[in-house]
Amino acid sequence: MFTSLLLISQASAQAQPPNPPAGAPLAPSVAPPNSTQEYLEAHNQARAEVGVGPLVWSEPLAKSASLTVRLQRDKQNCSFANLTNSRYGGNQLWAGGFTVVPRVAVEAWVAEKKFYTYANNSCAPDHRCGVYTQVVWKNTQELGCAQAVCPKEHSSLTICLYNPPGNVVGEKPY
Ligand SMILES: *[C@@H]1O[C@H](CO)[C@@H](O)[C@H](O)[C@H]1NC(C)=O
Ligand SMILES: *[C@@H]1O[C@H](CO)[C@@H](O)[C@H](O)[C@H]1NC(C)=O
Ligand SMILES: *[C@@H]1O[C@H](CO)[C@@H](O)[C@H](O)[C@H]1NC(C)=O
Ligand SMILES: *[C@@H]1O[C@H](CO)[C@@H](O)[C@H](O)[C@H]1NC(C)=O
Repeated sequence: MFTSLLLISQASAQAQPPNPPAGAPLAPSVAPPNSTQEYLEAHNQARAEVGVGPLVWSEPLAKSASLTVRLQRDKQNCSFANLTNSRYGGNQLWAGGFTVVPRVAVEAWVAEKKFYTYANNSCAPDHRCGVYTQVVWKNTQELGCAQAVCPKEHSSLTICLYNPPGNVVGEKPY
């Protein structure tokens, strides 16, 4: 059984996926069709609950997410990527002690919903509603996600990228 289990989420409105080295072919997306389906359905279920239309899968976003998680896996022990300068929105989930399937990763972000107050567009102290508001951001249309596992550190990193980015300061998600 698991001795430790920890989930940490992070949202950013401006994520910078690294550019591939010049001349290097883009690696194929790591997401098999069923992962794609899981990521999409979990997002679109949360969106439908608040009357927001569904996202569609973007292969370029999935490739960017894949490049980013593999870089973090290979160079940074699966820690959060710095997505500050990206043109995409980004949600990240670091999981320690076990590996999360796509649905569980998205559900961890959606779980922040209970700390978010739509009426005044604010978040309870010490919570990260940004991961939830990005999931349900109305103007976001495309989604692409990937996950990497660091067996040595018993951790994994899941990243979803969003286009156009959500979490525009001062705006409500829908
Ligand atoms: C998705 O595919 C992988 C690899 O084929 C398999 O291990 C996993 O059980 C599948 N998951 C679902 C939900 O079908
Ligand atoms: C990653 O973890 C290994 C082993 O725990 C450690 O030796 C290494 O310094 C870490 N690297 C980074 C970039 O944190
Ligand atoms: C992320 O990158 C931005 C822009 O390069 C930088 O200002 C910021 O300090 C970085 N954040 C972290 C946590 O490294
Ligand atoms: C927003 O509304 C909630 C629920 O009424 C309240 O607890 C919270 O303090 C409010 N936040 C701000 C920043 O006004």
